[in-house]
Amino acid sequence: MKGFILGVLVTLLVVVGVGFYVVETGQMDMRADQQPSATEARLAMHVLDESVDRSAPQMKNPRQPTEANLVHGATIYLEHCAMCHGDPVHTRSPLADTLNPPAPQFAEDEPDMPEYQNYYITVHGVRWTGMPGWKNALRDDEIWDVVTFLSHIGNLPPAAKSVFALNGQPPAVSEKKPK
Ligand code: HEC
Repeated sequence: MKGFILGVLVTLLVVVGVGFYVVETGQMDMRADQQPSATEARLAMHVLDESVDRSAPQMKNPRQPTEANLVHGATIYLEHCAMCHGDPVHTRSPLADTLNPPAPQFAEDEPDMPEYQNYYITVHGVRWTGMPGWKNALRDDEIWDVVTFLSHIGNLPPAAKSVFALNGQPPAVSEKKPK
């Protein structure tokens, strides 16, 4: 038993020592444009999935996917998200490969999580990544509209898609305004 405890302690000491040596001699590569290994990426994605599964409240999206709401979501996405995540016209952001972990390019790889989970991630951001939390920068209805936009990114009405082609100019929307 004594030998076993000693073995555990020595192993711990070696692990901490190697970690300390690697950090203190500047050998930890901190460049963002070096992509994480497959193991690191798989592990980090799993940690995020489990955390979101546990913590995100199961809310119903209060916004409808009307043309006007999708155009609104697209406008917010263009202004705040496309730079990292790409958009339906410029499918690969120039920052796609220089964030570590990389930002998913949603026009190439559509988000497959439930809307309440995309809402939770957008509100809070993702720790240890470039993904910011938006709760103090966007209103709640803006966050839901951008989440709605994400769920429909592969099947957008032309007016929502044209937001990206026009690069921010407001498109003509056929829908009538509520009285
Ligand atoms: C500065 C870059 C940056 C900006 C701006 C940004 N994101 Fe992200 N986002 C990231 C990165 C990096 C990740 C990957 C995090 C990870 O690997 O866990 C991410 C992940 C996500 C995810 C989780 C995707 C998944 O399938 O795991 C969602 C949803 C998301 N972002 C939505 C948004 C929305 C909506 C906006 C705009 C309001 C936005 N992001 C703006 C960098 C950014």
